[in-house]
Amino acid sequence: MIWMVTLVLVAILFIRAHRNTFDLMKKNVSVAIRPSERVEDTENWMPLRILHLSDLHMENLSVPAEQIVKDYEGQPIDLIAVTGDLLDRHRNIPRAVAYVETVMKLKPVLGTFVVFGNHDYVLRPNKLAQLKSELERIGCRVLCNQSVTLNHHGQTLHVIGVDDYATRRSNLAKSYQGVTDDGVRLVLTHDPNVVLTMKDYDYDYLLSGHFHGGQIHWPKPYHLVKMGRLPRMNMVKGLHQYDNRAFYISEGLGQTGLNIRLRSRPEITLHTLTTQTALQHAPDTSQQLPQTEAAPTFAME
Ligand SMILES: [Fe+2]
Repeated sequence: MIWMVTLVLVAILFIRAHRNTFDLMKKNVSVAIRPSERVEDTENWMPLRILHLSDLHMENLSVPAEQIVKDYEGQPIDLIAVTGDLLDRHRNIPRAVAYVETVMKLKPVLGTFVVFGNHDYVLRPNKLAQLKSELERIGCRVLCNQSVTLNHHGQTLHVIGVDDYATRRSNLAKSYQGVTDDGVRLVLTHDPNVVLTMKDYDYDYLLSGHFHGGQIHWPKPYHLVKMGRLPRMNMVKGLHQYDNRAFYISEGLGQTGLNIRLRSRPEITLHTLTTQTALQHAPDTSQQLPQTEAAPTFAME
């Protein structure tokens, strides 16, 4: 009898955990650019709106791309960032590419930028090359330790794609080659642990994923202990800072292993990189982090 009850309870938990994978969290995060030698006059900066998708994991993805298009249609988006783990199996390359292509219907002004994650690197080199070329065919910029310099309303914006740290592919010197001493620096990478190694590589904001918010976060995401130093520092999701720089860890859109989430939800986030003044006039959701006076300011909804 007791086994029967346990079985029923486990089944209910699984059903509930699977349902959670459909329950998309749409987050808004605003971060102010710190005045620096690179960007002296931050007040001239026009807000940069970045739609951030991470960890799509096509094999276990419950959120349709069409839903994302419907939810964000009509909103100004400057850039779409995809921070890795698009899939695990090469047979899903067409689905992953079609998914990104559908989200690109939102027509980001500066384009769509992709970095790969540890799961993408499970693919054989020729299949990964196929994924990369298919993404480029639809108009994405795939950055593997590379940067792109863009013009955002007359201001210089460097988008720096740092390859996956977890599989030891990140090369900061290479990523920053060609990044000049002026302009705003936005880093895209999969594993946020790389921030711990970036003392000599300055940036204004960094977007990442990798931890899935624990995915099964119940009672605690103990399994993340194996995934580098950040989880041990209690940084597994959301907005953080290290070395006085802001970085963000997405909970990701899809799931790995089983298609379930507990105390975690699939996430899509609209980040606004803005000025201190604009942020001070943001709604009451603004929150100051207790840091040094030069600390970046954040607002989250
Ligand atoms: Fe992932």
